Amino acid sequence: MSLAYFRKQLMPLEEANVSIATHALNYGTGCFEGIRGYYNESTNTLQVVKLTEHYQRFLRSCRIMRIDPGYTVDELCRITIDLLQKNSTRTDVYIRPLAFKADPVIKVTLEGIQDEVGIFTVPLGDYLPTTGIHVMVSSWRRLEDNAIPSRAKVTGSYVNTALAVADAHLAGFDDAVFLSENGHVAEGSAANLFIVRDGMLITTPGTENILEGITRNIVMELANDLEIPVQVRPIDRTELYVADELFLVGTGVQIAPISRIDHRIVGSGTAGPITVKLQRIYFDASRGLIPQYLQWLTPVTYDARKE
Ligand SMILES: Cc1ncc(COP(=O)(O)O)c(C=O)c1O
Repeated sequence: MSLAYFRKQLMPLEEANVSIATHALNYGTGCFEGIRGYYNESTNTLQVVKLTEHYQRFLRSCRIMRIDPGYTVDELCRITIDLLQKNSTRTDVYIRPLAFKADPVIKVTLEGIQDEVGIFTVPLGDYLPTTGIHVMVSSWRRLEDNAIPSRAKVTGSYVNTALAVADAHLAGFDDAVFLSENGHVAEGSAANLFIVRDGMLITTPGTENILEGITRNIVMELANDLEIPVQVRPIDRTELYVADELFLVGTGVQIAPISRIDHRIVGSGTAGPITVKLQRIYFDASRGLIPQYLQWLTPVTYDARKE
């Protein structure tokens, strides 16, 4: 039985339910996070990646949406560690904190509505293949920051993602890449995007309607350590077709090389050398195997006697 944190206590996940009249269910007025924990069998430890940074972004999203979660970053980290220990899932896990407008009211506003927080965890392996995916440039545009805040992880904004991903899957692709209304590349459906041109790593700026990704920051830190030059600048659609390497990054997708885009082969058609190098370090570091990057991780140790 999996436990969830809801209404200020731990309870069975199947009992952590809301009414169909809940504001957030009707109007998408919630914020969430997606956090990964990687299980290391030899040490019986779950390594949670960038826990503090995820909760910092969670509170920034809540601020934009005028949601008061009622917890500090430290409190949310402590609750999450406790939940993981109680669940003691001996697999890689995905942690989903959610803060939302909870009252059962027919009133489209953000004011005067009670907020609630819930956290649950699910076992999760690869969200997308990590050996090479085929993506399409979506005909859906990435939501504009002045319509729905793109740097906040708002539940309702994932309608945008769902429309693009559903069309991509129906057309036989693995995932979609969004352009913004200005025609520049924004990001993947639920991931940031990097291209490699002439040995240079390029990613789109925070002002291109992206979610400011934590994995994107990790990749830039790794590139810096490997002395790979990084440019943060707008990317044109056709740069995707001439890039030497192309990959998506995010907590869910991890580092997912793109081997084909819109029926065009990327580079040699397999994950390129820079992508592979970053991916290898990312996976090893996330499992706590690289001392230099242990500061990314919050270790959660399980009681060895408990099943
Ligand atoms: C829209 C969107 N962009 C980017 C990302 C990548 O962000 P992060 O690396 O913080 O998971 C995500 C995933 O959370 C996302 O949903």
